[in-house]
Amino acid sequence: MRILVTGAAGFIGSTVTDRMLADGHDVVGIDDLSTGRLENLSLASRDARFSFEKVDVTSGELAEVVQRVRPDVVLHLAAQIDVRVSIRDPLLDARLNVLGTINLLEASRLAGVGKLVHTSSGGSIYGTPKRLPVDETMPVAPESPYAAGKAAGELYLSVYRSTYGLATTALALGNVYGPRQDPHGEAGVVAIFGTAMLEGRPTRIFGDGETTRDYVFVGDVADAFARTVTPDAANGERLNIGTGVQTPVRELHSRIAAIVGVADDPEFAPPRPGELQRIALDVSRAQRLVGWRPQVDLEAGLRQTVSWLSSRTATS
Ligand SMILES: NC(=O)c1ccc[n+]([C@@H]2O[C@H](COP(=O)([O-])OP(=O)(O)OC[C@H]3O[C@@H](n4cnc5c(N)ncnc54)[C@H](O)[C@@H]3O)[C@@H](O)[C@H]2O)c1
Repeated sequence: MRILVTGAAGFIGSTVTDRMLADGHDVVGIDDLSTGRLENLSLASRDARFSFEKVDVTSGELAEVVQRVRPDVVLHLAAQIDVRVSIRDPLLDARLNVLGTINLLEASRLAGVGKLVHTSSGGSIYGTPKRLPVDETMPVAPESPYAAGKAAGELYLSVYRSTYGLATTALALGNVYGPRQDPHGEAGVVAIFGTAMLEGRPTRIFGDGETTRDYVFVGDVADAFARTVTPDAANGERLNIGTGVQTPVRELHSRIAAIVGVADDPEFAPPRPGELQRIALDVSRAQRLVGWRPQVDLEAGLRQTVSWLSSRTATS
C-alpha cells in the first residue's frame, strides 16, 4: 500500500515509518520539522520506497500534497505534544491539533483516501477515571487543552466516517518511550532522566513521585499502527495502546538509575498543573479486535532506550 505518515520526522512517526517500510509499503513522510529531525529518517531515507516532503499540516498546501501522493492510508502523528504548552497557549494547541486534523481529514476525503489512523492520547483524554485500568467505554473527560484537542480529533473522525465513509481508527496511546525520543523536550520523562543521568546532571521529580503512568515501548506502538492500516481493521474504534501497568515515576527513576549505574537520588519539585495523578490503560479491545498486545516489558524497553541515549551522548 501507499502510506502517508504525518509527523514522520518525530519520535513515534519515524519509528512507524520504518515499520511500514519493513512491512513492504511505499511511504511518503511529511513534517514541518518544528520538533522532528531529519536524522530520525536516516534509515528510511536509504529506502527507494520512501520520500519526504516538508509540509505544515495546517497549511493550504497540504491538500495539494495529499492529492498528488494519493495514499491508500494516512497515519496522522503530526501534533503539538506538550500538555503544558497547551495550557500556556490553548489557541496554538487547537490550531495545530484540531484544525490540523480537520485539514488532513478534508484533504484525505478529497483525495479518496481509504483509511485514516489518528493518534489520540489514552494518557490524557480520560482525565481522572473512576477505576483503573481505564477501558474505551469510560467517559472522555479532558483536564487540559491538549487532551480536549485529541478528543476533538476523534469526534471529527466520526464525522468523516459517517458522512463520507472514510474508514478511521484512533489509537489512544499511553506514555510512549524508546529510542529517538527528544531528551531536551518537556515531555518524555524516560529520555529526560536517562540523558541527565548519562551526563551526570541532577534529575528532578515533579510531585511526590507517586504519580503513575502507563509506559509503552515505541516499537509496540508501531505494531499497533501496522495492525490498523487496512480499512476494516478496527474501523470506527478507539483502541487504547498501553500495558495496563501503572508505574510510579519514583520507581521509573530507580530503574533507569540502576541501568545507567548512577545513584538513585532525584530532587523533588512541586507538581505541575494539568498533570494527572494516576493512569493505566486496559488494552483488551486492541487485543480482541486486531490481535495487538505489548511485547516489550519495561525493563527491556528501558535498557534499549538507555543504550540508544548513551550512543547518542557519546557522539554529541
Ligand atoms: N510521546 C507520547 O508519549 C505520546 C502519547 C500519546 C500521544 N502521542 C501523540 O503521538 C504523536 C507523535 O508524538 P511524538 O511523541 O512522536 O512527538 P514528536 O514531537 O517527536 O512528533 C511530532 C512531529 O510532528 C511534527 N509537527 C508538529 N506540528 C506540525 C505541523 N503543523 N505540520 C507538520 N508536522 C508537524 C513535528 O515536527 C514532529 O516531527 C503526536 O500526535 C502525539 O500527540 C504521543
